[in-house]
Amino acid sequence: MIYYSHVNEDNHVERNALFARHAKSLYAIAGSGERVIALMDCPALGMVHLIDNNWDALYLCELKITALAHLNIEDYRSFVGFEPPSEQRWTQFEALKPRLSEGCQHFWALRKNDIEIGICNCGHFEQFLQRANPTLRFFLGKGFYQCFSVPKADWKGFPTLRWRIVKAMFSYRWTYWLFGMKDSAFVSRDSALQVIPAALQKSLDEDEVSKSSLFHLVFNGNLHQMSEENLPTSFQKSVLLRIKAALKDDHLKVNYHNGDVLDVLTRINVEQGESRFFSLSDILSFFNLDYQQKLVDLITAAKTGTGRLIFRAFIRNRLTQEQFADLKKQYSTLKDLSKEERSHFYQVFQIDF
Ligand SMILES: C[S@@+](CC[C@H](N)C(=O)[O-])C[C@H]1O[C@@H](n2cnc3c(N)ncnc32)[C@H](O)[C@@H]1O
Repeated sequence: MIYYSHVNEDNHVERNALFARHAKSLYAIAGSGERVIALMDCPALGMVHLIDNNWDALYLCELKITALAHLNIEDYRSFVGFEPPSEQRWTQFEALKPRLSEGCQHFWALRKNDIEIGICNCGHFEQFLQRANPTLRFFLGKGFYQCFSVPKADWKGFPTLRWRIVKAMFSYRWTYWLFGMKDSAFVSRDSALQVIPAALQKSLDEDEVSKSSLFHLVFNGNLHQMSEENLPTSFQKSVLLRIKAALKDDHLKVNYHNGDVLDVLTRINVEQGESRFFSLSDILSFFNLDYQQKLVDLITAAKTGTGRLIFRAFIRNRLTQEQFADLKKQYSTLKDLSKEERSHFYQVFQIDF
């Protein structure tokens, strides 16, 4: 199963951290691929290692990156489902098919419907949002949707009571079950669901809805109302053009690794003096802090080169202040970058070594 297929983080945090570091190689948990694509136009980058223990996520990323390399930007944005529906998608896939690995060809050849709706829309999370969206729209009504286009000071008839009810619904596990959510990141007993309505309220309080791709995905089901400059980096034409050029002249090489990231990283050879960047995303949605710490220990123990790593916590295994203080004793360069994450859904941490 593909858990996530569209953008679901404000990956500006990783992007600023990578560009400031000029790393030559990127090691990233694949996930939906959008966070990785948002990092691939870094001029210093020469090698990208996509890692995921779920083949489906790697096949999603391989198809996105291959499409980006071989379609023009408009066709790419339409093929992945960023732009409104297009009849061309299956034909475009058939043209791309010979350029894909055998496993990837076979995987997508069996998923014509996912290709036709646009692969950014086929994930379990995205399908959950598609199911919940009509109810949200109907219940909240026009008064709520002015937050996408009218400055907060000019709002008229904002549905305060209905919005309070919706926020309460977002913090109950059964709401996610009701709309078919099966992802343990959401429905586990230790998921801090109250983080979600609090994050959405923060975007409203800051009148920053127009900049929050997650707010658009949750309440509009797409990013069509976002202006080009507010778009997530992985959909901005200028960034996609640079990545396309880097892939075309082989300046940027991409490797796909299936397996547990702890095992995979022990298998990948590190070049002497290599400067590396690790985007581990919210592994903590699947594993606890002990596992995360083993991963940080392995990465920072490298005998050669320099590096920077970024890891996140979503609504499971979020770090307490005590846990942060303990980790800081072991990693003096540990920084909390959560305030820079404009979706407000995640904790974000950085360690340099
Ligand atoms: C950690 S999150 C990343 C989601 C992120 N928000 C995104 O869309 O990029 C989920 C991804 O991590 C992968 N994953 C979880 N635990 C892993 C592990 N121990 N090793 C490798 N991949 C893992 C899952 O298969 C999934 O694709």
